[in-house]
Amino acid sequence: MTKKGLFITFEGGEGTGKTTQIRYLQENLSRRGVNSMVTREPGGTRFGDQVRTLLFSHLSPSLSLEEEILLLTAARHYHLRTIIEPALSQGQWVLCDRFIDSTFVYQGFVYGKEISWIENIHQSVKIMIYPDVTFLCQQPLEKALSRRYSHKASCNRFDYKNRDFHEKVALGYRCLAEKFSDRYITLLAGQSIEETAREAITLLEEKFPFSVRDS
Ligand code: TYD
Repeated sequence: MTKKGLFITFEGGEGTGKTTQIRYLQENLSRRGVNSMVTREPGGTRFGDQVRTLLFSHLSPSLSLEEEILLLTAARHYHLRTIIEPALSQGQWVLCDRFIDSTFVYQGFVYGKEISWIENIHQSVKIMIYPDVTFLCQQPLEKALSRRYSHKASCNRFDYKNRDFHEKVALGYRCLAEKFSDRYITLLAGQSIEETAREAITLLEEKFPFSVRDS
């Protein structure tokens, strides 16, 4: 694939405002003449949405951790092949709500599958694992959880875990941000939505000064 667009992912725990920030970034990019598309995982395709339903439904079979990762990986492969890569090769920027780092954090760091096992599975099916940029959205835990529970209709089984679970998720992301410091942009917690959105576009322009203006 000849890649022309930038592949940007948004990561973070529940209720950290990823979805809102993606919307703001898309609007900001559009004002700068950059054409972008928004997608998400699990999801982004019909198959991905079916996998999301399977993973989140209380009626689903109880899958092993490995089976869960294989399902997520199959959906990711399909998502990349049919949606993300074609968009990037046409010069579109892709803004994706969660990607491989969610698997590293949830199935790896929190549930305990070795990160190398997860990487190997992706590499063996030739998945382009790493985005160009990953924004890490953070919020103080209390704020994130109360924000999340105020949208109760959309809560999934991960939202009802205890405090320890959410702290582990946050720690997992901080570790990834350190390990992949070249592609991670960590957004400050505790700012207003608008301040965070301004920070995101400013830091992105610093990282890719020509890409943003030249697109
Ligand atoms: P979602 O309803 O999209 O919530 P959020 O707004 O927090 O993104 O739920 C996505 C959930 O799926 C989230 O709890 C993390 C989980 N997940 C994994 O466990 N592994 C993965 O690889 C992905 C992509 C998501």
